[in-house]
Amino acid sequence: MLTLAAFTLLLAGACALSANTVTTMMQDLKVSSKLPPPCCSPPTWQAELVDLKSPYQVDSLIAVDYSKNMEGVITTSRATGQVIGRSLIDYSKHLIYEAVYVPDMAPTCKKVPFNMPLARCMNDTTITDLVYLGSSTLGMKGAGLNYDGYSFKAADNEISIALVPIPNSGNLCYPVIESLKNKQQDSIYIFLQAESKVNDPTIFDVPAPCV
Ligand SMILES: *[C@@H]1O[C@H](CO)[C@@H](O)[C@H](O)[C@H]1NC(C)=O
Repeated sequence: MLTLAAFTLLLAGACALSANTVTTMMQDLKVSSKLPPPCCSPPTWQAELVDLKSPYQVDSLIAVDYSKNMEGVITTSRATGQVIGRSLIDYSKHLIYEAVYVPDMAPTCKKVPFNMPLARCMNDTTITDLVYLGSSTLGMKGAGLNYDGYSFKAADNEISIALVPIPNSGNLCYPVIESLKNKQQDSIYIFLQAESKVNDPTIFDVPAPCV
């Protein structure tokens, strides 16, 4: 649900746009007073992830597994197709592994303490200051994606998120846009090609340079 593709290499200086673009966008919605029932991410999911504020020409794949309590991100150079980074958040160990691959150099690894909780549902106790921003359609009316907008806090993060219900799933939903701000990071993610499964589970292996 709240994803944190923390990848230090990609974050430096990525603060070009004004801070709360996504919140502002969603606050323009016709706010319904009725909070929808809390939705949850599928037990595992993956998506292509683009940070609209990043100055780097990269693509990322993000995968989350709530039973493993892990979130993995593989980042690829758009120009060369080469993997330039892998990060793995182990929410149980409160640790993020960040491996960086630079051509012609030995891969590096950083292990950094990580204290943000992993929340799967909008009623998770780690979510505070929850505000329902309303619902609207992303794209064409009648043929686009109907979503619910929320803002909330989790640990030191301010998050706004647009969640789209998965048809006939009961209470499952997936993110399409997320604005995430904390002391180190100011990102607007869009999620593409989301799937309720993880195609390559090795994304949850500790990156080789970190072993
Ligand atoms: C949170 O919401 C989910 C989905 O609607 C529900 O299954 C679960 O029981 C709720 N948990 C709590 C603690 O209310």
